[in-house]
Amino acid sequence: MKWQLVHLLASIVLSGLSVVPTYGMNIKRANKCNGYQELCNRKYSNITYIGAHDSYAVGDQLSDLGANQLTNVSSQLSDGIRLLQIQGHKSGKGTTSDNPSGISLCHTSCAILDGGTLESYLSDVASFLKSNPNEVVTIIIANVDNIEASSWSKGFQNAGLDNMAYKPSQSTVGKDNWPTLQEMISKDQRLVVFIDNHYDFSSVNYILPEFKNVWENPYDQTSSNFNCTPDRYSGNTKEMMYLINHYLDVNKSILNNKFKSPDVDNLNQTNSVDSIMKDATHCASNMNSYPTFVLVDFYTSGDGSVFKAVSEMNGVKYKAKPLSQPESKEKNGARAQAFMTPAYFLLVATLPLLMAMN
Ligand SMILES: *[C@@H]1O[C@H](CO)[C@@H](O)[C@H](O)[C@H]1NC(C)=O
Ligand SMILES: *[C@@H]1O[C@H](CO)[C@@H](O)[C@H](O)[C@H]1NC(C)=O
Ligand SMILES: *[C@@H]1O[C@H](CO)[C@@H](O)[C@H](O)[C@H]1NC(C)=O
Ligand SMILES: *[C@@H]1O[C@H](CO)[C@@H](O)[C@H](O)[C@H]1NC(C)=O
Repeated sequence: MKWQLVHLLASIVLSGLSVVPTYGMNIKRANKCNGYQELCNRKYSNITYIGAHDSYAVGDQLSDLGANQLTNVSSQLSDGIRLLQIQGHKSGKGTTSDNPSGISLCHTSCAILDGGTLESYLSDVASFLKSNPNEVVTIIIANVDNIEASSWSKGFQNAGLDNMAYKPSQSTVGKDNWPTLQEMISKDQRLVVFIDNHYDFSSVNYILPEFKNVWENPYDQTSSNFNCTPDRYSGNTKEMMYLINHYLDVNKSILNNKFKSPDVDNLNQTNSVDSIMKDATHCASNMNSYPTFVLVDFYTSGDGSVFKAVSEMNGVKYKAKPLSQPESKEKNGARAQAFMTPAYFLLVATLPLLMAMN
């Protein structure tokens, strides 16, 4: 009895005096990582994440010009999207107090689809990460206007995301050297950021060069037999993670101008478990592992099939839940009018040039 008391007192005193290493005590133990206990001890790179292609390019309906999704970034994240692909352009308004980076998220051109400022988008991502402390999210930036990393970093700082970003000791991390989800959650470094050009690791140590860390297969494919050849990369693909662009386009032509747009008529098929698994298994037969990232258009099509497919790749049980509904149908009238204006015809005339970009 006495000895037990002494023991108890001793342990209280010891822990109060921090003789027990505080490092160990401060570690936050998540019981689930990205929704599953089984994923906590897996490396970040050894998990498959479903991504929203042109995540900011939100339309009211599938046929909207430039749209690739129907729900906003907050809904995407709450539905389970864990990779956000974005495209940045110099904003026509330059830098302003509510947009210190001067970057807007637009599809091909801000005249086609303006998805708002980088700051506003990132503040929605930050809210999600703050209220979901056991989730790890990735952003891939298409830096179409070759904007300096220092400008991009202003957007991340403004949203408070620089603190939450993963900061490796080197800009390139081999596929086997990524931390586990648990380690990232414990350090609260839960946002991984990649950019396709103009990284500057010595001044912004969390915006990482995409193609030294991740290779991609070709984008804008038009055959459902997706081609898995490495297309964009810099270095040894065997030591990198990879991303499959699993969205299908159709060739179109308006006034003799050829361009590609999402194959919305076959979305349910393209987003089906069968189609995604066929693509991923084919790639895995060359690479010995599933893709780390799968990018899709209109992820809400297919009744959750895209999330079912990643659960299958990750070997975890799929938890079906209703997906977010598109935000509003009210803007449809305004959008339709745009099709009648001279600006629209000018746009159509320049589409082939513009559509040469992702
Ligand atoms: C679409 O056009 C490209 C050339 O831009 C061509 O390679 C491809 O085969 C076409 N796809 C279909 C389904 O016709
Ligand atoms: C896709 O499936 C949903 C039901 O799951 C259906 O409402 C929709 O019409 C289908 N879309 C197409 C283009 O077949
Ligand atoms: C994770 O590792 C398992 C076991 O080696 C493998 O089957 C799976 O394809 C890997 N997934 C990724 C995304 O690397
Ligand atoms: C995103 O969409 C949801 C669902 O329609 C809506 O409730 C929410 O307010 C939207 N968020 C923002 C930041 O617009």
